Amino acid sequence: MRTPIRFSSAESKFCLKMKISESNKYPSVKKVSDEERIGMVKEIFSTITGRYDFLNHFLSLRRDIAWRRFTVKKMNFFKTKRLLDIACGTGDLSINACLEHEAISAAAADFVYPMIKVGQDKVKKIGLSGRIYFLQGNALSLPFEDNSFDVSAMAFGIRNIPQKAQALKEMLRVTVPGGQIMILEMTFIQNRLFKLFYYIYLNFLLPLLAKIFSKNAAAYYYLADSIMNFPSPEEFAAFMRENGIVAVKIYPRTFGIACLYAGIKDSSNQDKGCL
Ligand SMILES: C[S@@+](CC[C@H](N)C(=O)[O-])C[C@H]1O[C@@H](n2cnc3c(N)ncnc32)[C@H](O)[C@@H]1O
Repeated sequence: MRTPIRFSSAESKFCLKMKISESNKYPSVKKVSDEERIGMVKEIFSTITGRYDFLNHFLSLRRDIAWRRFTVKKMNFFKTKRLLDIACGTGDLSINACLEHEAISAAAADFVYPMIKVGQDKVKKIGLSGRIYFLQGNALSLPFEDNSFDVSAMAFGIRNIPQKAQALKEMLRVTVPGGQIMILEMTFIQNRLFKLFYYIYLNFLLPLLAKIFSKNAAAYYYLADSIMNFPSPEEFAAFMRENGIVAVKIYPRTFGIACLYAGIKDSSNQDKGCL
């Protein structure tokens, strides 16, 4: 199953060109092409793997754990008893879901192998290897048949995917009619008071802490930049609806720092894998 991370020629040209050590920052997501951004994402997640879980919990004051728990509690397994965890990283969403819902299994897909490897080791340690199957795959072209999962979910992944409509289309295709599409994502809160505090945290405190604890502190400038350039909750929920997902609800978490977006694949799409 292990394959090296593949960069297309445009992606790798960009990575080689990047002199992060000189600037200490990746270029803003507003200034790069989709291919360049994918190259950045692959590079970032293959270099922060070792400390990814620790920094996630530390930098969010363990709120990320509560947000994933909230998400899996909202999941409803009514037919296939299978979850698809896309952009799974080290597999925390799948692990939480399998602990919460005893009868289910999960397929966990990510295109960065080192993240999957950490997940596999973790899952083995807690005895869930028989229920969580990891694979290296791209959210834009999922290696699954139509209508395979009760729930297709993505935690903190969609922000890193420039072709968001294609990712949602694939989620819909592989979900059973009546099944759930769930996206958990960070938001740049708009409340004036919090906005200033959050801006300072994201742009100054977070990279400073990351510098102490991570080999690739530049990755945490990317994190801040990608959060600040993600659509507002209302805009993103509207985008999900425009892309064929129905009954979309927004669940803001921790003052709206993160939101769960949960919708349904319309059951009138019974015979269609894809909208
Ligand atoms: C911030 S991490 C989130 C990991 C995990 N879901 C979690 O809750 O911690 C984002 C993950 O998305 C993955 N990713 C980004 N774009 C992807 C794509 N097009 N296909 C598959 N994985 C992708 C990255 O490799 C990375 O592991």
